[in-house]
Amino acid sequence: MAVLSRTLLLASAVAGLASAQTILSNGQVVAADENTVPVAAESVKDELVLTDDILAELTSLKLSNISLFSFPENLNSTENDRRSLFTGCKTFPGDNLWPLQSVWKVFNLLTGGALIKTVPIGSVCYTNSEHYDADKCQDLLDHWTESITHADDPTSVMSPLFQGKTCMPQNGDDGTCELGGFPSYAVNISTVAQIQLAINFARNTNVRLIVKNTGHDFLGKSAGAGALSIWTHNLKTIEYVEHHNSCGYTGPAMKLGAGVEVGELYAAADKYGVAAVGGECKGVGVVGGYIQGGGHSPHSSLYGMGADQVLSIDIVLPNGRFITADKNHNSDIFWAVRGGGGSTFGVVTSMTVKVHPKTVYSGLTFYVTSGNDSLANVTTPAFIAALEAYWRRFPDYAAAEGHYGYSSVYPRFDGQAGYTWQFHPWLAPGVKLADFKETIAPLLAEWEAVGFTVEPEFWEYDNFLQPWQSHFPTETVANSNLRTGSRLIPAKNWEDPAMLNKTIATLEEVMQSSALIMYNMVGKEQAGVDNAVNPAWRENLFYIIVGSGWTDDSTAAEIEAANKAITYNAGAKLRSISEGAGSYLNEADIAEPNFQQSFWGTNYDRLLSIKNQVDPWDTFWAPTAVGSEGWYITRQESWLETQNGRLCRK
Ligand SMILES: Cc1cc2nc3c(=O)[nH]c(=O)nc-3n(C[C@H](O)[C@H](O)[C@H](O)COP(=O)(O)OP(=O)(O)OC[C@H]3O[C@@H](n4cnc5c(N)ncnc54)[C@H](O)[C@@H]3O)c2cc1C
Ligand SMILES: *[C@@H]1O[C@H](CO)[C@@H](O)[C@H](O)[C@H]1NC(C)=O
Ligand SMILES: *[C@@H]1O[C@H](CO)[C@@H](O)[C@H](O)[C@H]1NC(C)=O
Ligand SMILES: *[C@@H]1O[C@H](CO)[C@@H](O)[C@H](O)[C@H]1NC(C)=O
Ligand SMILES: *[C@@H]1O[C@H](CO)[C@@H](O)[C@H](O)[C@H]1NC(C)=O
Ligand SMILES: *[C@@H]1O[C@H](CO)[C@@H](O)[C@H](O)[C@H]1NC(C)=O
Ligand SMILES: *[C@@H]1O[C@H](CO)[C@@H](O)[C@H](O)[C@H]1NC(C)=O
Repeated sequence: MAVLSRTLLLASAVAGLASAQTILSNGQVVAADENTVPVAAESVKDELVLTDDILAELTSLKLSNISLFSFPENLNSTENDRRSLFTGCKTFPGDNLWPLQSVWKVFNLLTGGALIKTVPIGSVCYTNSEHYDADKCQDLLDHWTESITHADDPTSVMSPLFQGKTCMPQNGDDGTCELGGFPSYAVNISTVAQIQLAINFARNTNVRLIVKNTGHDFLGKSAGAGALSIWTHNLKTIEYVEHHNSCGYTGPAMKLGAGVEVGELYAAADKYGVAAVGGECKGVGVVGGYIQGGGHSPHSSLYGMGADQVLSIDIVLPNGRFITADKNHNSDIFWAVRGGGGSTFGVVTSMTVKVHPKTVYSGLTFYVTSGNDSLANVTTPAFIAALEAYWRRFPDYAAAEGHYGYSSVYPRFDGQAGYTWQFHPWLAPGVKLADFKETIAPLLAEWEAVGFTVEPEFWEYDNFLQPWQSHFPTETVANSNLRTGSRLIPAKNWEDPAMLNKTIATLEEVMQSSALIMYNMVGKEQAGVDNAVNPAWRENLFYIIVGSGWTDDSTAAEIEAANKAITYNAGAKLRSISEGAGSYLNEADIAEPNFQQSFWGTNYDRLLSIKNQVDPWDTFWAPTAVGSEGWYITRQESWLETQNGRLCRK
């Protein structure tokens, strides 16, 4: 009672302010705050969800603006009429229709205090910012290239280029920190209900909605100016099911929360004595962007893509409803989310995925530099001959033996003429070292013959976790002076000798101006699996990422040229040897020409029709996502679309 009378006083004291919200409690008008407004969630089958009953109860409290959280079928005609105001662009901060402070307050109360107003991660380095803190700034600068720095922040992303670089910690001394492509608010998700509230709110207010898990996305898909962000990083549950038996699969499986990262998945799989399909880098979100975009893995040549492992998906749809999708229920959604891309069909809360029996792994790593100086291991002609010999034998490895050949070639960093080639690693899952050595013996002999005398480090383990921890690189992220693109080169290029020669000649040309990250891997169709993964993965033998960079001192013209080089030089060359194939949407060029064909091939039409059906409001939008072509971001260079601008209909 004491609490009630205190809040009553408070309510009358602030009654004149725009931000005052009240509720009716036992016939009394009291201030709406965390003591008086119940969190909008109820427990249904182990999840805290938002229901029609809860919204009805909140409405009966006479709390203002509750209709902004309604499901679409419960909006009355007055509220629906408001939708006619939503033309042109998404509502942006400063617009008349931008929700008032008091409305954000209601949202915060309903989510149990999970709403976070964005403070750009770099602001601690800006001497003119209220958040300036020299120690925190130093710490941030020291850990800037580590993925955890950005994953643990509600809004930071690992490709600052696409945020617009408006608050880089490195520029704190002389610049001004601005929000740029960061969202205005984020919800720190711990329940399904909070996701439902955020989706309903964004849809009903026409505020741009984005989803951020770790922020690894290469194209700015987890950023967005003026947006509300659903931040899923803290959904960390992992459940092991030893005997999963449904939808035609019998065997071990794992149910993974939306925030689980690759390293957490691998550690759990090791603990239960199984092997999981995930990416190479530790910090990537498994059921976030990775699986939804397809997901390539050290295990892909054996077990297929990440998306091929999925048995069931729990997801909140654009209409705010929480559903389970599998082979027999909501099968269109189940098909689309496995490869159709993140931030398109709703927010996945968890997925159940197949895991595989523990097995043996062998492989090698090496680091070789070419040139004429004392640092070089081999001459450049020997280096190129060896690379060519390796490329020519690709069908013998990934396709025939299930190998994962992961290496990169780049011009020497020290400015000397020549290249560096690094294996990180060549991994042979399910293969003993003796057998691996036998498979690659002809290549090693050829290397020796051309003067490529290197001594790789060879190894063998009886589990996946150890080689993954010991022989894979630590990811470095947040390089803001880099554009990337990718291409899937089909196995058929190896079937025709003239085409193979053309392929090799083209790769050698591309290598002169771009770093090549190379994956000899296949993503074959798996028996009984039908999903939206890019059909080009099914034909793939050589997946390539290209990168083109610049420095802080580069001129505007140089930066433009480096950006364009990815699309119109390296990209164009790679397209010329793989017509009709595609690119991997998760590691793509933001300006990929005809991205619909390139990312999804013949699956695009069905994906678009499912998108239009489940999200007629375009509540979900991300650059290059399915259906994204109907919108654009204002204030952009023709050669670089960042998320620092308004999202408007074309
Ligand atoms: C260092 C590094 C290494 C990588 N290694 C690999 C690799 O080995 N194999 C591979 O296939 N890819 C790899 N990738 C690419 C990676 O798969 C993508 O960047 C992927 O989008 C990351 O997903 P995320 O959820 O961690 O990132 P985020 O940037 O948080 O999200 C990516 C996209 O998914 C959406 N999204 C996130 N969570 C959800 C959700 N729960 N529901 C709906 N949409 C959601 C976001 O809105 C965004 O559009 C790598 C990337 C980097 C930077
Ligand atoms: C929120 O409620 C207030 C008070 O009823 C009303 O004036 C305002 O228009 C509402 N805001 C929205 C965005 O509906
Ligand atoms: C429709 O909703 C508006 C806003 O919430 C409310 O003022 C009005 O009374 C409602 N009308 C009906 C018929 O329920
Ligand atoms: C987000 O919520 C989790 C609980 O789910 C909490 O541990 C964490 O501190 C919160 N993070 C921020 C930045 O609010
Ligand atoms: C290395 O030396 C050879 C001849 O000695 C010369 O032809 C070649 O251009 C040099 N290569 C580099 C990369 O410097
Ligand atoms: C190349 O040379 C460097 C040092 O000169 C050496 O550390 C490295 O092991 C060599 N690489 C191979 C594969 O032999
Ligand atoms: C391909 O290149 C190799 C090596 O350069 C050459 O021997 C062969 O004749 C070429 N084949 C065709 C069909 O051009």
